[in-house]
Amino acid sequence: MSALVTNTEISIADLVLDPYPIYQTLRATHPVLHVASVNRIMLTKAADTKYVKDHPELFSSDDPNTPMKRAFQAHTLMRKDGAEHMRERMAMAPAYSAKNITSHWMPIYDKIADEMVASLPKGETVDLFPALAGPFAARCLSRLLGMPEATDDEMQRWSQILIDGAGNFGFDPALFEKCDLAHQEMNLCLDQAAEKLKADPDPSALSAMVNSDDPLEMSQIRSNIKIAIGGGLNEPRDAMLTILFGLLTNPEQMEHAKQTAAWGDAFDEGVRWVAPIQASSRLVVEDTEIRGIAIPKGETVMTIQASACHDEDIWTDPHSYDITRDKHPHQAFGNGPHFCQGKHIARRIVADILLPKLFDRFPNMTLPDPHVVKFRGFGFRGALNLPVHLN
Ligand code: HEM
Repeated sequence: MSALVTNTEISIADLVLDPYPIYQTLRATHPVLHVASVNRIMLTKAADTKYVKDHPELFSSDDPNTPMKRAFQAHTLMRKDGAEHMRERMAMAPAYSAKNITSHWMPIYDKIADEMVASLPKGETVDLFPALAGPFAARCLSRLLGMPEATDDEMQRWSQILIDGAGNFGFDPALFEKCDLAHQEMNLCLDQAAEKLKADPDPSALSAMVNSDDPLEMSQIRSNIKIAIGGGLNEPRDAMLTILFGLLTNPEQMEHAKQTAAWGDAFDEGVRWVAPIQASSRLVVEDTEIRGIAIPKGETVMTIQASACHDEDIWTDPHSYDITRDKHPHQAFGNGPHFCQGKHIARRIVADILLPKLFDRFPNMTLPDPHVVKFRGFGFRGALNLPVHLN
């Protein structure tokens, strides 16, 4: 067995700016590498990231070294294993069922998209991050979770604060104080919504949980709704912007998508190209090995699904956005017991609703200057802006 190598050169700033060239090198030279700046063992090959997520008995989600517990004031379902995790996951599951998506959520999301797309000004240049992607993702999520009284701005602010708190690896107290204030606001909103839903149930996640025959503690219900606020808003938002960027910078593909309504392919390729959740952590619970390298118990491995989605073992020309490429399973929604619960909703919101409506109203939309678009992020990644000309 070989010894684990530590890298002291890769900085978090470089990863935030553009991690893809770094991961390309690591896949070729050090697919299992301890990276000092993040204090984790990075796994960059698709076979390894999948292996870790598929073996929770060796790689636990219950990692005490993350700031998540402090940020969320609780241990959410994302950091639990086994039966305890499954009980909490199943408590929310009815909200995400195929039947509810089709009969309940799609008509609601269709109406939200109609209103939002109609309100965009024709003939003007507009940044679609604040004008559409952010508020659309926020409003769809507030309905799905059962907290429609929360405004688009509140949902976006809470989500960002929770993400910042969960990524507060320096344990900066000021950031956690911001989380605490947001928790007070979210708790008030959720408790009021819960009372209404007990009297008048609906298919939302909060309603499923508070009206269950064997309900979780209210504090745990709140925490798991909050993990969905932190993890269900920025991903569809970032996926939308990435896909639009991919289409608008590849006109022949945009034409193909419009001609053949290939919005599902545009979605799958977008989340593969720039995975909205780039990395996840797991705690090593037994001495083990990966690729002949010893991984001691107590270490934290980081599965880089962004890198798995660009692995040359699977993908040809992985750095290009190509909606016509051969289909292979990608890992942008994870693997194993924590596989994303919102995948189908996210795909349908973006591919079946938003993209067709947007290109129907603005068939000649352009991105006048692709160079101004800035992609950022290490744990989560997406475009910070997308100024398009609406025509
Ligand atoms: C393009 C959109 C989305 C992407 C790329 C995405 C990605 C992911 C990934 C990678 C994970 C697994 C994390 C891990 O293994 O540690 C995850 C989990 C999760 N996602 Fe998503 N997600 C998206 C949209 C959504 C939406 C709209 C919701 C709705 C609330 C949602 C709810 C969840 C939940 C609850 C979990 C945790 C499941 C568990 O721990 O059992 N996601 N997501």
